[in-house]
Amino acid sequence: MPFSVKDLPFAKDALDGISAKTLETHHDKLYPGYVNKRNEIDAALPNADRSKANGSYSEYRSLKLEETFNADGQILHELYFSHLGPNQGQQTRPTGALAEALDRDFGSFEQFVEDLSACGMAARGWATVALDPTDGKVHTFLCDVHNQGGVWGTIPIMTLDVYEHAYFIDYGSARPDYIKAFFKNVNWDKVSENYDKAQQMAKISGTASMA
Ligand SMILES: [Fe+2]
Repeated sequence: MPFSVKDLPFAKDALDGISAKTLETHHDKLYPGYVNKRNEIDAALPNADRSKANGSYSEYRSLKLEETFNADGQILHELYFSHLGPNQGQQTRPTGALAEALDRDFGSFEQFVEDLSACGMAARGWATVALDPTDGKVHTFLCDVHNQGGVWGTIPIMTLDVYEHAYFIDYGSARPDYIKAFFKNVNWDKVSENYDKAQQMAKISGTASMA
């Protein structure tokens, strides 16, 4: 079953500080490219010649390499767009279990924002927040490209896209201003929902009991 492009959960002109023009490029043009290429690769893989697989160059190697690039590009963009939303009276910070986890693992919500912002300044692609079932803690991870920097077994709950395409139309090279705008548009109810689901997945996987 081919993967399909997911709609934005908000109107393109609804965000404060992330423009409709940016979203038209980012969501409508760039993101579908990853979905379409993932489908193209999935269709080509069954016919790739396994007998010629080679670490320097082979059709099979190229397809497998770009499979992870496009799959992670799809997954990270869908996470990013899913927890953005118009800041019309919504929570400006998380509550409940997520708030407690961020206090526990980062010291305070403000320290979490400071750390994720720093990760976003240091990364060339993504700053991603994930629950690690092996220690039960929330971590930030730095990814320079879609398929580099993710930690296997961790469950992503939130991500900050810091590729230039995410902000250059609105802010030029002023990435700190974009990161501030990003936090103004986070739907914390959605991130909390992601955290609750991640906790359930961690319990099902059983790896938390090994910590
Ligand atoms: Fe992006």
